[in-house]
Amino acid sequence: MDRVISAWLTLLLGFLQLAKLSANVEGDALNALKSNLADPNNVLQSWDPTLVNPCMWLHVTCNSENSVTRVDLGNANLSGTLVTQLGVLSNLQYLELYSNNITGTIPDELGNLNNLVSLDLYLNNLNGGIPDKLGNLAKLRFLRLNNNTLTGTIPVTLTNIGSLQVLDLSNNNLTGDIPVNGSFSLFTPISFANNPRLKALPVTPPPPVSPNLFGPKLTF
Ligand SMILES: *[C@@H]1O[C@H](CO)[C@@H](O)[C@H](O)[C@H]1NC(C)=O
Ligand SMILES: *[C@@H]1O[C@H](CO)[C@@H](O)[C@H](O)[C@H]1NC(C)=O
Ligand SMILES: *[C@@H]1O[C@H](CO)[C@@H](O)[C@H](O)[C@H]1NC(C)=O
Ligand SMILES: *[C@@H]1O[C@H](CO)[C@@H](O)[C@H](O)[C@H]1NC(C)=O
Ligand SMILES: *[C@@H]1O[C@H](CO)[C@@H](O)[C@H](O)[C@H]1NC(C)=O
Repeated sequence: MDRVISAWLTLLLGFLQLAKLSANVEGDALNALKSNLADPNNVLQSWDPTLVNPCMWLHVTCNSENSVTRVDLGNANLSGTLVTQLGVLSNLQYLELYSNNITGTIPDELGNLNNLVSLDLYLNNLNGGIPDKLGNLAKLRFLRLNNNTLTGTIPVTLTNIGSLQVLDLSNNNLTGDIPVNGSFSLFTPISFANNPRLKALPVTPPPPVSPNLFGPKLTF
């Protein structure tokens, strides 16, 4: 009898261990971010990697399946760099890291966040390019990368994001042409202001002049 109970307990423990491992993929990713950041105001103090999932951590929100949907760390005085592991947060909708002192580049892996609605990295010290892969973010509505030191061209892949409503790439060091097609047909020069090396948007052409407005053209 004791042996049967002990066997069941071993099995149960094994299952729990497995559940814990799978649930912790997202916690591990966020803990990798924490490890990479300096946090003088201790806003990440509650981020305890030994908990079964990150859903009780402050500034983290989960859905009913205990999967992370929001990371809210705007204005938190954080410095350091972003991590590629953020790309595993498959249910993430809001990544709010604006107004910090974050340096380094925007990881390509953010392009894996299929459910992302808002990517707010504005007012940091990010450099390098805007990853082409961000064009895969089919649910993105807000993309604000303004007030960094981003370089390179604006990826034309971003024009494919039909849901994009708000775009702010101003106050960077981007180069090349501003796309005008797809989702970009909505955006005005304000979205691109103060990128000294970016080519200006063409002025909207004046409405066509009626051919007869100035009288018949005289031909001989
Ligand atoms: C931000 O952190 C720096 C140290 O890295 C500190 O000097 C500064 O006072 C902090 N600012 C705020 C608003 O907490
Ligand atoms: C960036 O860091 C400097 C000095 O560490 C600090 O004074 C400043 O408040 C920080 N900026 C933000 C937006 O946290
Ligand atoms: C963004 O950068 C511009 C140009 O440097 C500056 O004028 C503006 O105040 C910055 N925005 C914020 C919110 O600090
Ligand atoms: C923009 O990039 C160019 C070329 O790398 C550099 O010379 C210039 O200083 C940068 N401007 C700003 C405002 O960072
Ligand atoms: C916009 O034009 C570029 C080529 O200039 C093209 O690669 C891209 O697919 C176009 N986007 C849309 C949404 O048609």
